[in-house]
Amino acid sequence: MSTRTAVVTGASSGIGEATARQLAKQGYHVYVGARRVDRLEQLAAEIGGTALALDVTDEESVRAFTDAVERCDVLVNNAGGAKGLAPVLEADLDDWRWMWETNVLGTLRLTKALLPKLIDSGDGLIVTVTSVAAFSVYDGGSGYTSAKHAQGVLHRTLRGELLGKPVRLTEIAPGAVETEFSLVRFGGDAERAANVYKGIDPLVAQDIAEIIGFVASRPPHVDLDTIVVKPRDQAESGRFARRG
Ligand SMILES: NC(=O)c1ccc[n+]([C@@H]2O[C@H](COP(=O)([O-])OP(=O)(O)OC[C@H]3O[C@@H](n4cnc5c(N)ncnc54)[C@H](OP(=O)(O)O)[C@@H]3O)[C@@H](O)[C@H]2O)c1
Repeated sequence: MSTRTAVVTGASSGIGEATARQLAKQGYHVYVGARRVDRLEQLAAEIGGTALALDVTDEESVRAFTDAVERCDVLVNNAGGAKGLAPVLEADLDDWRWMWETNVLGTLRLTKALLPKLIDSGDGLIVTVTSVAAFSVYDGGSGYTSAKHAQGVLHRTLRGELLGKPVRLTEIAPGAVETEFSLVRFGGDAERAANVYKGIDPLVAQDIAEIIGFVASRPPHVDLDTIVVKPRDQAESGRFARRG
């Protein structure tokens, strides 16, 4: 296979789906992974990619997924999210486990498995979608911010460990992006999720996808290290200019 290929985790919605579409438009063959395979199959048919079931929290699933990827030039570690907004005193240990398993260990599993192929490509790129939560903390957010900090640390450590190898690393840290993120965080409560974006102009998934597309289109010697991107209406993690 000589076509450049990209792997996008969490491609069944939001940022991952938009990124898969963007990279396909730029000529990549895209392997799209997530648990909701019906959505992936529809997406893969539209972009001429390959849909593969993937649960980043499951060793066997990750092995089957990465074994099926013949060549890997770009890995987008995007699968992740938040559960709940509980203060430490009321922290739900299962929510914490979900956040750490998905964001941190999921990124570790995929990166570890695909690193040899990324190096073999001669010009590999790892994009990890962390968050502004990887750089700050906020009340009720400790499960998510700690997981995103850890995911960021894992990604940044690779920058040193891979020095001298043909692999670039880019961390993308978005502020508020309107996707299914808040719906997942609040257990399907659509009204609570909608309130997160009420009165602001949030980023949309395509905004992040275009940035990832730009990163992937730079020449091999250019490494865009860290990109923090927020809506104009956002300052710190939880500080917004709301209208109305
Ligand atoms: N939206 C924001 O405001 C925002 C801001 C900063 C950072 N981020 C980060 O951006 C990334 C994408 O989130 P999004 O906003 O696009 O939210 P989203 O629409 O909820 O997408 C999350 C994706 O992750 C996948 N996923 C969840 N658990 C998974 C698992 N165990 N195995 C494989 N895939 C899994 C989901 O697919 P399945 O459910 O089908 O498996 C889905 O495709 C996340 O890492 C999130 O933390 C989001």
